[in-house]
Amino acid sequence: MESNFQQSEIKKKIKEYWNNPHQDYDGVSCHGVNSEIEKELWENEIARLLRHRQNLKILDIGTGTGFLALLLAGMGHRVTAVDWSMTMMQKAKEKALASSIPIRFEVQDAENLTFAEGSFDAVVSRHVLWTLADPLRASKEWARVTKPNGLVIADIPRRGSNSGKHHYGEDIGRSLPFGNGADPDEILTMFKQAGLSNLNLILMEKPGEQHRKTLIIYGERV
Ligand SMILES: C[S@@+](CC[C@H](N)C(=O)[O-])C[C@H]1O[C@@H](n2cnc3c(N)ncnc32)[C@H](O)[C@@H]1O
Repeated sequence: MESNFQQSEIKKKIKEYWNNPHQDYDGVSCHGVNSEIEKELWENEIARLLRHRQNLKILDIGTGTGFLALLLAGMGHRVTAVDWSMTMMQKAKEKALASSIPIRFEVQDAENLTFAEGSFDAVVSRHVLWTLADPLRASKEWARVTKPNGLVIADIPRRGSNSGKHHYGEDIGRSLPFGNGADPDEILTMFKQAGLSNLNLILMEKPGEQHRKTLIIYGERV
């Protein structure tokens, strides 16, 4: 575990990376933001997990350019989207405005949320766990702001993906707990420690892209 000072330096550098106005997140196809197949898979799974209920209060953590926030608001939910990068979120805001989709955007740290306990029916997060300096702390926060019996839903970073090193270089990559992905058991244990129960995994397979399977974990706030 890094010292507090090291951790805050690491977080500062990661934040700078995402605030760089020259990076083109949506233009990189493996992020899946413009993939209709990816959207359909997430929409179907989330709708099923939320038992096709509507008008729920949902928090999208690390929304970035708004993939899940736009999807969920389009499905009729009341969405709050948070990210610590204004650069990324600005793109999400523009998309929401262009499609007249109402979403509340806030700059927040995924590991230190300002929302009151039990504020949301569900908390979702896509492509975020791998980049967190303290994912256990973040998971506890996500569980805290979820209502009792509400759901936390996230994707598990693929083992061997080495996303940390590819994005931030060797040193930071190595210091991130899931910078090189995770075994599902590690995330299950972490979510349990965070106070989530009835944990389950879903394997999401993209037709024609068998090499790029997505594993989703979900659990209920006790
Ligand atoms: C790989 S992008 C994923 C964006 C989006 N969720 C998606 O599915 O396309 C990671 C996002 O997490 C944000 N992020 C990383 N660490 C964060 C933190 N500690 N607090 C808030 N946002 C964070 C980054 O700014 C970035 O927008």
